[in-house]
Amino acid sequence: MAKPYIEPPAVDSTTVFKDDIFRGKVLFCTGGGSGICKAMTQAVIKHGASAAIVGRKLDRLEASAKELSTATGNQCIAVQADVRNPKQLQDAVAKTIEKYGRIDFVICGAAGNFLAPISKLSENGFRTVIEIDTIGTYNTIKATLPHIRASKGSYIHVSATLHYRATPYQVHVSAAKAAVDAISAVLAVEEGPQGVRSNVIAPGPIAGTEGMDRLSAKGPQGSQYSIHSPVGRDGSVQDIANATVFLFSPAARYITGQTLAVDGASEHLRTLQLPYPQSVLDPDSVTHLIKPRL
Ligand code: COA
Repeated sequence: MAKPYIEPPAVDSTTVFKDDIFRGKVLFCTGGGSGICKAMTQAVIKHGASAAIVGRKLDRLEASAKELSTATGNQCIAVQADVRNPKQLQDAVAKTIEKYGRIDFVICGAAGNFLAPISKLSENGFRTVIEIDTIGTYNTIKATLPHIRASKGSYIHVSATLHYRATPYQVHVSAAKAAVDAISAVLAVEEGPQGVRSNVIAPGPIAGTEGMDRLSAKGPQGSQYSIHSPVGRDGSVQDIANATVFLFSPAARYITGQTLAVDGASEHLRTLQLPYPQSVLDPDSVTHLIKPRL
């Protein structure tokens, strides 16, 4: 039998796009202190932009901002805000404007996730994820829109692929991300005439991220994705970062209101992380496979 081709790891965006395409631009990124959104921020400022990364944990944000500035030679500041709090977001935007005078790009990336079936998910657990992902996205748009209109800028919302089909243990995130996709499409249509673009990036399984760690079952059956991925590997944060550079670049100026799944076609060949139907018939029997809450 012929062996499947395994695609090599992602290339750095600077080997494809010019170094300075975002010179003079400013990025405002929620959830930028870690994981996928940190890599998205790094890619954008590597091409000349300055950035503000926004999140709840100031220590982690400040360490990441320093790291990103050192790695790229461009400015990155840390601004503390909980996306569930509109006032904190408005203050974060004000600090960004005070520092840089403008905002051109927004990444709505702050998100929450954990595995829980409906039967064991509390009303507050469901609401918390809706508040972070969906209402957080809305709050971020409201706080930044006047500046994005002024700069004729662009939004990228970080969503997921898991709600395209029913994913057990993910009702909260499925509902939240479906709403995020809808918000982005409406934003694109309402704000298109103002020169504003809005798109969604839907990452598939991305190796080494907190999200992936939370969603992978513990034990030997953890991360089955790479075995079944049509490209033969999990995604890397660099794959998402490269898509970000493209979507914010003028090369994507006619692309708005779209969702770009960056998942190596994994969604078309989805496998379950938890045993089915055992996990829905007897949730207690799979508890040992689920990562403990923080
Ligand atoms: N299983 C079931 N319910 C859970 C849970 C889990 N693993 N983790 C939290 N919850 C429930 C809590 O029990 C609580 O509900 P209750 O009051 O009815 O008990 C509710 O969710 C809120 O939890 P809390 O810890 O108070 O919220 P928080 O605002 O501090 O944290 C989370 C938000 C729960 C989303 C937390 O996981 C988080 O901060 N995540 C951010 C990072 C992240 O998820 N990254 C991955 C992105 S893909």
